[in-house]
Amino acid sequence: MFDRKPPATDVEAEVIEGLSETRKRLPPKFFYDEAGSKLFESITMLPEYYLTRTELEIFERYLEVMASSIGPGVCVVEYGSGSNLKIRKLLEQVRPLAYVPVDISREHLIDSAVDLAADFPELQIYPTCADFTGAFALPAPVAHLPKVGFFPGSSIGNFQPDDAEAFLAQVRETLGVDARLIIGVDLKKSPEILEAAYNDARGITADFNLNLLTHLAAVLGVQFVPARFRHRAIYNSEIGAVQMFLDVVDTHEVEIGEVQIRFESGESVHTENSFKYEPEEFLRLATRAGFRETGRWTDPQDRFAVFLLEVSA
Ligand code: AVJ
Repeated sequence: MFDRKPPATDVEAEVIEGLSETRKRLPPKFFYDEAGSKLFESITMLPEYYLTRTELEIFERYLEVMASSIGPGVCVVEYGSGSNLKIRKLLEQVRPLAYVPVDISREHLIDSAVDLAADFPELQIYPTCADFTGAFALPAPVAHLPKVGFFPGSSIGNFQPDDAEAFLAQVRETLGVDARLIIGVDLKKSPEILEAAYNDARGITADFNLNLLTHLAAVLGVQFVPARFRHRAIYNSEIGAVQMFLDVVDTHEVEIGEVQIRFESGESVHTENSFKYEPEEFLRLATRAGFRETGRWTDPQDRFAVFLLEVSA
């Protein structure tokens, strides 16, 4: 493994900072402990959560043309490591020489690399432990290969648009002048469809949101009680994002380290933004980050888009 030694985050300081704001917030990166990752897996299979299924359909249909546009002999760099269906389909079609999964979790990197190595014996795999939202060095053995970045799932939607642009500019820096990027983007659509995707009938998304508290309670040794909060997700058309909150249902206080945090009944803790884009809106942002469009594929209902970008200058 190529360990770029991402600095350990001070979880307590981050949580205190977010909960001390007038409008309380908790960072979405803390959703994904073991239970949270399993809940997210379940979300991807829900009838209301069209994103994963739709993106997979697009890949199934068009990966062959994407692959022929990309050509042979490349190195695929995946932002976030997946042993899942999407990367397997991509590897089967693109047949790259090398694959660099980049992830913050060493454990997850190793597990999924072992799985993939069994099924792709010819592939050179270079798991890289790094915080991919910042600058990091690619493994030396892939230096001479043209890079194809892979960022599926509309994970780009978790960034504020300005940060998304900065992230894409960073990707371009990391991947070099001949880089291309395959990126999945959830598109703007009716608020009913968007809100249903984050308010499923079975309440799995509610469990996912509330698990943030369970996870942080365990990590910090604090007394968060999920039963004192309620999940809420709404589409904010002003900013173009589905926003998730944990609404406080009864007033209480929680001690975190040296500080006492008061949760007032009726106030809410903001936990996630999922930005949605019009295709042209997303492309403006990508253009400012130094990319141009070489391909775009959508589903028949225009719910989701996969873009193939290349470096523009
Ligand atoms: C993994 C960030 C793309 O925003 O749709 C799913 C996470 N949150 N349901 C998304 C999520 C609530 C998901 N992303």
